[in-house]
Amino acid sequence: MSLYRNTVWFFKGLKEFTKNGFLSASKMFKEDDLEVDCSGRHYMITGANSGIGKCIATEIAKRGGTVHMVCRNPSSAEEAKQDIIDASNNSNIFVHILDLSKPRDVHKFAQDFCKNNESLHVLVNNAGCMFNIRELTEDNLEKNFVTNTLGTYILTTQLLPLIKQSEKPRVVTVSSGGMLVQKLDYTDMQFEKMKPFDGTLAYAQNKRQQVVMTEQYAKQHPEVYFSCMHPGWADTPSVCTSMPDFYSKLKDKLRTPDEGADTAVWLAVSPAAVQHPAGLFFQDRNPAPTHLPLASTKVTTKEKEEFMTALEELSKKFAG
Ligand SMILES: NC(=O)c1ccc[n+]([C@@H]2O[C@H](COP(=O)([O-])OP(=O)(O)OC[C@H]3O[C@@H](n4cnc5c(N)ncnc54)[C@H](OP(=O)(O)O)[C@@H]3O)[C@@H](O)[C@H]2O)c1
Repeated sequence: MSLYRNTVWFFKGLKEFTKNGFLSASKMFKEDDLEVDCSGRHYMITGANSGIGKCIATEIAKRGGTVHMVCRNPSSAEEAKQDIIDASNNSNIFVHILDLSKPRDVHKFAQDFCKNNESLHVLVNNAGCMFNIRELTEDNLEKNFVTNTLGTYILTTQLLPLIKQSEKPRVVTVSSGGMLVQKLDYTDMQFEKMKPFDGTLAYAQNKRQQVVMTEQYAKQHPEVYFSCMHPGWADTPSVCTSMPDFYSKLKDKLRTPDEGADTAVWLAVSPAAVQHPAGLFFQDRNPAPTHLPLASTKVTTKEKEEFMTALEELSKKFAG
């Protein structure tokens, strides 16, 4: 089954996820969809110092939005902040330092942000990682899972009270088409039973978990517009360092980070995006299937709910 899924996924990727896939899809984009004035609205973007996240932050800043960059590395965050100010002529750009792999810090950061800010209209969960060796954090949590899934869950859940009191709120999560090769599995979230450990599959499982999380949040909180998306295959630092073979084979076919960011920007700012139902997975400004044909990756609603409960229980262990 995994050979079938990987093969179908790879050929789909060559056609749709590459630069050519973007150029072909973008012929259908409506020019004025992104002609939006974001002034007066507050946007938080995780991983805004690099790659796709930096492009999302820059596009929002150019449209006048107040940008909260959530980054773990102070010097690269400050450097990126200056680049964003220079590119946008918008000085309402703020850096917040947070390592999403530290669940206690994520709880504290979100609680403090809610106390100190009057609104947060849009959260963009963009930060992500792929560790190819199974490593545990100081809290004994597997590094891919804690950053991509648990960190995203805690940040989103803890910011929801503030997000809900803001006008027309949205939460966008940058997932990945890689999730198509994985069926949701919440019985081994730390990948203890994955032998041998495979970082690409662990990452794909986390990205599947983000898609399920988005669907479930949308059901639980209809007052917030939740969506997730696939950026396509974009030339960014993490693709080069985490997937060197993939990168060397496909580097001429990759999208630019801006092309990878396009749908996330559209989901974060455009009135056209919210014409679609909440909870969907998007690719190139269109809802996209969350399962490959005949791939046996679907799970029941009960399993999705149990996954959310498992995250909630784990999250509580790290609440202050
Ligand atoms: N590029 C692609 O082809 C592609 C395809 C599918 C999905 N994606 C997704 O797109 C998103 C952005 O990735 P990218 O391709 O733009 O790569 P990138 O340039 O390497 O950006 C990743 C960002 O995540 C941040 N990050 C990683 N771990 C973190 C942690 N523990 N705490 C806080 N921030 C952390 C990184 O911070 P540092 O700079 O400090 O490392 C960086 O800002 C990710 O979610 C990725 O999974 C990318």
